[in-house]
Amino acid sequence: MIDHKDRTSNTQWGSKLGFIAAAAGSAVGLGNIWRFPYITGQNGGGVFVLFYLLCVIVLGFPIMVAEVTIGRTTQSSPVRAYGELSNHSRLWQTVGLVGVITGAVILSYYSVVAGWGLHYLMLSLVGWFPQVNTPEAYTNLFDSLHQSVGLNIWWQSIFMIITTWVVLRGVRGGLEQVANIGMVTLFGIIVVLTIYASTLPGFGSALDFVFGHAERFTWVSALEALGQAFFSLSLGMGAMLTYGSYLKLHDDTVGTSLVISLADTAVAVAACLIIFPITFSVGLEPAAGPGLVFINIPLALHQLPFGGVGMFVFFLLLFIAALTSAISLLEVATAFLIDSLGWRRLKAAIICGAIVYFLGLPSAASGGSGLFGNGMEQLIGMTWFDAVDYLASNWLLPLGGIGISLFVGWHINSQRRLSEFREGSWLGSLGWVYSVWVFLIRWFAPGAIAFVMLNVLGILS
Ligand code: TRP
Repeated sequence: MIDHKDRTSNTQWGSKLGFIAAAAGSAVGLGNIWRFPYITGQNGGGVFVLFYLLCVIVLGFPIMVAEVTIGRTTQSSPVRAYGELSNHSRLWQTVGLVGVITGAVILSYYSVVAGWGLHYLMLSLVGWFPQVNTPEAYTNLFDSLHQSVGLNIWWQSIFMIITTWVVLRGVRGGLEQVANIGMVTLFGIIVVLTIYASTLPGFGSALDFVFGHAERFTWVSALEALGQAFFSLSLGMGAMLTYGSYLKLHDDTVGTSLVISLADTAVAVAACLIIFPITFSVGLEPAAGPGLVFINIPLALHQLPFGGVGMFVFFLLLFIAALTSAISLLEVATAFLIDSLGWRRLKAAIICGAIVYFLGLPSAASGGSGLFGNGMEQLIGMTWFDAVDYLASNWLLPLGGIGISLFVGWHINSQRRLSEFREGSWLGSLGWVYSVWVFLIRWFAPGAIAFVMLNVLGILS
């Protein structure tokens, strides 16, 4: 039997919409606004975007249902959830634990990028941008931030303090409240910026680039698209599982997962339709890498009507998106400590925040010339920052995805799987929806993920 006595009323969402806002807040983040446009640019748009959408539909959505449902049925954080449904198998609990660690690793560099966003938010607030409208001036602005270990650490600290503060306030008073306010603001800003971008001369070329452009597509791009789907939907490390655990036992998981996946995808596509028209309108390159939104956006906006306001609004968007996602990353580790060591939330949140912060210091130093930046680049061809991002999103998350798919597809009792899928859900009660889902979870997801990985490793070719 599951013992829920240590779960206070504060560990349940106040409303169904609160869950949707929080989970969509987790999904919509830097992954959509910063990462998706630049890797789309690097992978040539077109086919990459199509493949990404395919990954969301046949892998992301089914796995999200699996995670949220496991969370709801066990009302527990990942490690305990895996344990409860597997007679405390060491192996499955380890899968859960790897997820917790992956979350901490992701947040460790995520907070650095979020810190860049805070820096630019400040710059736009005080109007302190270079007066010369040259790409060099803006590249220098970004480079000097990127290379300054001190500035990176400063902004990362501020961002981590805000994130930790929200998490320690709890599920209803922290996560849900911030998500409700944040998501309404975020969607409003996205709509306004998309309309603005559609009036720019580069909008046509942007549409063509995002949807119509066919370029080299390799197995490496396939793994990128797959990893991006996991990253963007917050899958593969137990974040959606943890958020699902704060649902009531009879709340819908299938329909809500669909809404969350759609919202996340809509924002990712919208972000491209905001960023590329701006990029093309001033004649810039789409394949600029991680600096894309930090160099192109300010440079371009500077030259466009209402650019100063646009800049502030854009970086506010980036900050809100980053915060609601970072909260979910920290919540997983915090919930783990509350559940398994019986710590109070206050203590768990602060300790997790501190661990992540220290883990993030090498990422903050990755733009510099020291060991973690140039040093590692010469040694292994990647900075510390690039290496942890690559490892976490392209390998650990998809591996976690294989884990949850195999667990739900093969390990848990099939009667329970069926009744949990149907519980509270109109969509889930349709027989064919269930059959398709089971097929995807049992066979397709683990098979397809493994197939792409083996190809990248060169084992199949
Ligand atoms: N999905 C978020 C984004 O796109 C990042 C994120 C939050 C995440 N929680 C996660 C990524 C859990 C992987 C796993 O920015």
